[in-house]
Amino acid sequence: MNINFLEVDVFNNEAGSLISLEAKKNVPFEIKRVYCIFKTNTELRRGFHAHKNLNQVLICVNGSCKVLLDDGYERTNIELSSPSKGLIIKDFIWREIFDFSSDCVIMVLADNFYDESDYIRDYDEFLKIIKNY
Ligand code: TYD
Repeated sequence: MNINFLEVDVFNNEAGSLISLEAKKNVPFEIKRVYCIFKTNTELRRGFHAHKNLNQVLICVNGSCKVLLDDGYERTNIELSSPSKGLIIKDFIWREIFDFSSDCVIMVLADNFYDESDYIRDYDEFLKIIKNY
């Protein structure tokens, strides 16, 4: 599976660290939505969906987690443990996020607003859609 990462400059100094994300500059799309995932349960997986029309970048700004990506043919696990490495997830990719460190904070940039009708939350339905492509 072709996995695309976003390289992000991290500005570190004795006061702390900073990253900056700019639409159509270091982020390859117009950002319409930002959401964060935090206070995660280290024992539980989340996600379990794909999107029909949504590009996203996941940045683990603190701690670490793993992301399972599944394009209907192959499954790959990616570890995110640095804000310098964003994970680009396009549409029709099933994702699950797991193995959260207790201090994990994930920031997600998306090129569209929240729309529940854009979600595919059933894995069998996801496979059916992929196989009929
Ligand atoms: P959910 O999609 O279940 O999270 P995950 O895929 O990480 O398991 O979302 C959790 C709740 O948050 C759900 O009620 C929908 C809501 N939500 C929004 O209102 N806006 C958003 O941008 C997102 C991603 C979720």
